[in-house]
Amino acid sequence: MTALEEVFKKAVEAHAAGDLSKAEKLFREILEEVPEHSDAHYFVGLISVAGGHLLEALGDFQAALKVNSSVDAYWVSYLDVLIRLGSADEASAILSELKSNGAQGNHFDRLEERIALIEVNPVENKPPSPETIQAIVNLCERGLFEQAVERLLDLLSRDSSSAIVHKLLGLAYLELSQHSDALQAFEESLKIQPEDADTHFYVAEILRVRGDLEGAVASYNKTLTFNSEHIEAYNNMGISLQAQGEVGAAIVTYSKALQINPDDERAAFNLGTALRNTRFAGPDEEVGVAIAALLDKPGCVRPNTINEAVLSLVKHDEFVRRAIISCNEFESSEALKQVVSGLSKVPLLLKLMKVCPIADLEFEALFTKLRLSFLLNISSFLDDAATLEFQVALATQCYITEYIYTETEIDKKALESLIQAIEGKKVNSSPLSMNEVACLASYKDLHQHPFSRNLLEIFGENELLKLQIREPEIEIEIKPRIACFGKVDNKISVRVREQYEQNPYPKWINLCLSPDAKPISEVAKELDLQFENTEILFADNPQILVAGCGTGQQALETSSRFKGCDVLAVDLSLSSLAYAKRKTDELRLSNIDYMQGDILQLHSIDRQFDLIESTGVLHHMADPKVGWAELVQRLKPGGLMKIALYSEFARGDIETARGTIKHLDLASDQKSIKSFRQQIKDRTHPDLFPLTTWSDFYCLSEFRDLVFHVQEHRFTLLQIQGLLKKLRLNFAGFELINNKEFIDQNSAPEALYDLEIWHNFEVENPTYFSGMYQFWCQKAFD
Ligand SMILES: C[S@@+](CC[C@H](N)C(=O)[O-])C[C@H]1O[C@@H](n2cnc3c(N)ncnc32)[C@H](O)[C@@H]1O
Repeated sequence: MTALEEVFKKAVEAHAAGDLSKAEKLFREILEEVPEHSDAHYFVGLISVAGGHLLEALGDFQAALKVNSSVDAYWVSYLDVLIRLGSADEASAILSELKSNGAQGNHFDRLEERIALIEVNPVENKPPSPETIQAIVNLCERGLFEQAVERLLDLLSRDSSSAIVHKLLGLAYLELSQHSDALQAFEESLKIQPEDADTHFYVAEILRVRGDLEGAVASYNKTLTFNSEHIEAYNNMGISLQAQGEVGAAIVTYSKALQINPDDERAAFNLGTALRNTRFAGPDEEVGVAIAALLDKPGCVRPNTINEAVLSLVKHDEFVRRAIISCNEFESSEALKQVVSGLSKVPLLLKLMKVCPIADLEFEALFTKLRLSFLLNISSFLDDAATLEFQVALATQCYITEYIYTETEIDKKALESLIQAIEGKKVNSSPLSMNEVACLASYKDLHQHPFSRNLLEIFGENELLKLQIREPEIEIEIKPRIACFGKVDNKISVRVREQYEQNPYPKWINLCLSPDAKPISEVAKELDLQFENTEILFADNPQILVAGCGTGQQALETSSRFKGCDVLAVDLSLSSLAYAKRKTDELRLSNIDYMQGDILQLHSIDRQFDLIESTGVLHHMADPKVGWAELVQRLKPGGLMKIALYSEFARGDIETARGTIKHLDLASDQKSIKSFRQQIKDRTHPDLFPLTTWSDFYCLSEFRDLVFHVQEHRFTLLQIQGLLKKLRLNFAGFELINNKEFIDQNSAPEALYDLEIWHNFEVENPTYFSGMYQFWCQKAFD
């Protein structure tokens, strides 16, 4: 069987099994390669009929007949569609000719009976012919919607029994934003053809835009009754449910969309957003599968934003629960094997372990124990492929958390023996097992080992070696290619750079790219931002500066958020920039340039920007106001700025921790950071235990950033208000996931833009801005 025949067979099977979207995809693949494949045209036609797309179907059957007019089935389907479209005369003429040429059989007889019935009961005015419909479709395609409406109304004045004419009228009105007229037209169409999934969908869309969310959900449900694979209906139904506060139902809806098409970026993006503040009260296998698919993609969600949701789901798994409870009981290799085989059956857990630090003390205890158990029992796991998958996930988790777990003397001694054994095998040329390497990689970054290159030669570039050896190598290759500006001579900038050279922040794996880049104006509308001058919101090719881009996650997300933009991303730390550039190349994003330098030296770049973002950066400068003023200088008049700063109120715990660190005179090397962290876990400083609820607690560079930073300023909103005034910036609103709580207490629309009201709200809700104040402002015109 040729490859093409193979695809055809699969397509026919999918069609027979009712998986129409898969079948259509495969048939279209065949037509790409062999445009004159008549059977593929025929099947695509059948699928179009099933979806109610009769005109498209007509074209497909015509194409099939053009290639081969001797297949009865093609004629039968073609004539059926002609009759349905109201062209019984034309069908009758063709049928007579076919019969006179010898066509016979039940199918043809039945068609003849249908035509006869229409002839006996002729409608007074016949529905429009396909040609008439096509002419109106052409008008729409040329954007002449008003003319199309005129023609359609004229047709309806003579005969109002055609569902497709009402539907087209609805679509034309929709394009003209005449939503009430469109709704009425669609409803008329549905009276005649109540099973048309697309028309129900259009009704749902109008209701959603009008704010009738319940009505919208009901219509999306009808859409899905008649076309259970309508992905857009799932997506927009989820959005409507979420807007009604039914996040759980929305999650189930997005999961269904992903079940149908795991590559649907919108469903993945929507699911990621819905999961942010969710905790699961019980197990849910289908949602688990959808989340695992989501985590498989590099650009749909920042895993740490759904970490808590995923962990709450995973903890309902029986294996996981048992492993956590029996954490101290698997010293022997047999017991270890059992636990690992149970955990390996929870793919969602393994996926999460590979993409972000798992911010949870119970899991930390479990992983620390498992890591040691592997080390002590490694001889029982040599070349154990079944266990390797879990070991790789564990080693990846340890690498991502930057080896933050505590190592006891037992760990250290056993690790020493493992390194000696591996080195001995290298000298003796004895076979090395990947299980041994994974065991080592869960304690030490493989790239640091002198034999890292040998490992690549022995095992090739597998998942773990790529992560721990090849990727750091690529970053080293990238570093000299990054351009610099100005000179870093500010004392604080020098110290800050040193910190981020040692610990680039954050070390991310996946991120959340926007599925569709939007004009600034649209983003501003979605965020409810209020700008005095809106000229810059309509820039076609916005020039964006990301100041203090770190390892690139934010810069990349920004580059995908704004349509047609060019981004320049700068940072003090070359290691961070190399990480950012590697990830940018991997994701094949081409609208970002990176440069190394100090924000204080930005005047040496001769460029003005439409939009500047600086999040989590200015509060680490010697004088944030001076850095901020430098950014304002780089902004065009009327230009927009997104700033994120630490809140004095939200970081009370951090201030206490920084005080303790200062009092204990702790250094910020890896050993001191880890030992202080262990003290917090042990409740040596009971008032600091709440730090364990910060996700930054679970990764070395993030924990260093959280409490050991060389420079940290914090602000109140009243101070920010003063600074904005001095810098001649106008506050435009916060970027928040959810501002419902604030709005419930402050219903006046202008309250959203009043920093004094926000300040009073924060006094009452001191942890509200624990994720920093993230806000937008606009540079005044001179
Ligand atoms: C906490 S990280 C934030 C990174 C990124 N903005 C984000 O939100 O993921 C702070 C970054 O700001 C950079 N930074 C701090 N002071 C800077 C300065 N004066 N000039 C340029 N970059 C600076 C640091 O090197 C570090 O990468």
